[in-house]
Amino acid sequence: MSETRDRGNPVIEEVIEEDIASTVAVAGHPIHAMSVHFPIALVFAVLGCDIFYWWSGDPFWVRVSIWAAGFAFATGVAAGIVGTLELLLVPGIRMRVASWTHAVAAMTLIAIAGTNWGLRLIEPGAILPHGLLLSVLASIFTGLAGWHGGKLVFDHGVGLIVTAKE
Ligand code: HEM
Repeated sequence: MSETRDRGNPVIEEVIEEDIASTVAVAGHPIHAMSVHFPIALVFAVLGCDIFYWWSGDPFWVRVSIWAAGFAFATGVAAGIVGTLELLLVPGIRMRVASWTHAVAAMTLIAIAGTNWGLRLIEPGAILPHGLLLSVLASIFTGLAGWHGGKLVFDHGVGLIVTAKE
């Protein structure tokens, strides 16, 4: 129904005509889509560590969370650099509002993840409650960024290779 309505709309036609194939890819497979699993998993791992620490009081979970938060931030920055290259280099990605919504949510997430790591390095005693609250916020923004990233692929077809193969 919306496809029928969109057809003939000059703005939509212009957006649809632009290329949306991934440029930062291995054999056509977008590196960004391959790398986002690491920050997503690690952000939720930090939240899990904080909940276990709150529940058990065992400092083991503080040490694990420092490493998990550091890698969540580092892999988030790495995924963000590749995502930003896609955004800037591919015209069909750049001109979609959905790409910028995803980028803003993702960059906010990376900032929160970095703050969460920094807090743990400087003041591990502040994990309850400040670290836990940052972990909850980071998880919410991971959900937002992941949801909007998924929309780019599954709604807009960004980075998909569609062939006539059976
Ligand atoms: C910071 C700047 C970022 C930009 C500009 C960006 C941009 C993009 C773009 C253009 C796509 C479409 C696929 C592609 O062309 O590779 C995408 C997909 C996606 N992004 Fe990002 N991204 C960023 C960071 C992140 C981060 C940190 C995460 C982790 C939460 C993330 C999660 C996703 C997900 C889950 C997808 C869908 C991939 C799939 O389902 O295969 N993005 N992003």
